[in-house]
Amino acid sequence: MNSVSLLAPAKINLYLKIIGDRPDGYHELLMLMQSIELSDILKFHLNGTEQIRLFCDNPDVPNDDSNLILKAVYLLKNKYSKAYYNFGGVDIRLDKRIPIAAGVAGGSGNAAAALVALNLLWKLKLDLDQLQILATQLGSDVPFSLIGGTALATGRGEKLRSLPPLENLWLVLAKYESLSVSTAWAYQAYRHKFDHTYGQSLQDSFPLLDSVMAQDFDQIGKLLHNDLEKVVLPTHPEVQKLRDILEKIGGLGTMMSGSGPSIFTICRSQREALSIQQELQRQVDNDDLKVWTTRFIGKGIQVTGN
Ligand code: C5P
Repeated sequence: MNSVSLLAPAKINLYLKIIGDRPDGYHELLMLMQSIELSDILKFHLNGTEQIRLFCDNPDVPNDDSNLILKAVYLLKNKYSKAYYNFGGVDIRLDKRIPIAAGVAGGSGNAAAALVALNLLWKLKLDLDQLQILATQLGSDVPFSLIGGTALATGRGEKLRSLPPLENLWLVLAKYESLSVSTAWAYQAYRHKFDHTYGQSLQDSFPLLDSVMAQDFDQIGKLLHNDLEKVVLPTHPEVQKLRDILEKIGGLGTMMSGSGPSIFTICRSQREALSIQQELQRQVDNDDLKVWTTRFIGKGIQVTGN
């Protein structure tokens, strides 16, 4: 095998609660994560040289060492240098379909795809537990991106418990293309404003979890929650406005994903999602607003071929 193609799905957070500070500077979280069908497409090809090269048509995707794909490749190259010398470098082609810096783990999914691809191409024979340890070193959302589906995430976001898949739910996802929010900023701003509330909610069971287990879609829509809205929305009134409009149009529930600034509305059918998308685009006549209709899926990284 000298090449592998993969799909790397985005995710949304149905629930994101900040429990408190951690000694490592991160935050202790309680999250409900959900993979969605909107995916990046990646192809990794052994290039017969020593080089590691990333190609992407989207000029907003960095192709230096700050790119999580390259971080993942270098992590493996340093750790498994023998395999790298045996099999050589890779050319990586990224077809970027997931919005960038949107709070939907596009970069994390790419990193997870790189781990899966090189595990195959460099014949590393790493099992899922070993891949998860490497994933945690790359970012808090990378372990979830590997397994995908519906999962409860605690710790930094890396401790995962897979839940019965939520199928048959659709969503409308919307983001102002030119607007991005730094995740580090969002968490810092939250700490600054709300650290007096830390430790008040140490539960690992909450009503939304019960609704997910019962597949009660109406309740899921009502119980969506994201603490980071409290800092991102006041800073970006246009995102608050977008959220208000989407919520008013309809669906089961509306929320910001991760550190934003993307907003989603979940719905029961593709038809309902498409009509919400259409109405949103009618009400917000702005070329900068990008909108997708997509659906919940029960998978993370998928190898699709050579
Ligand atoms: O883990 P990742 O690199 O994706 O996180 C980006 C930033 O988000 C971190 O540098 C940190 O500032 C913040 N973060 C946090 N607590 C978490 C996850 C992320 O404070 N559990």
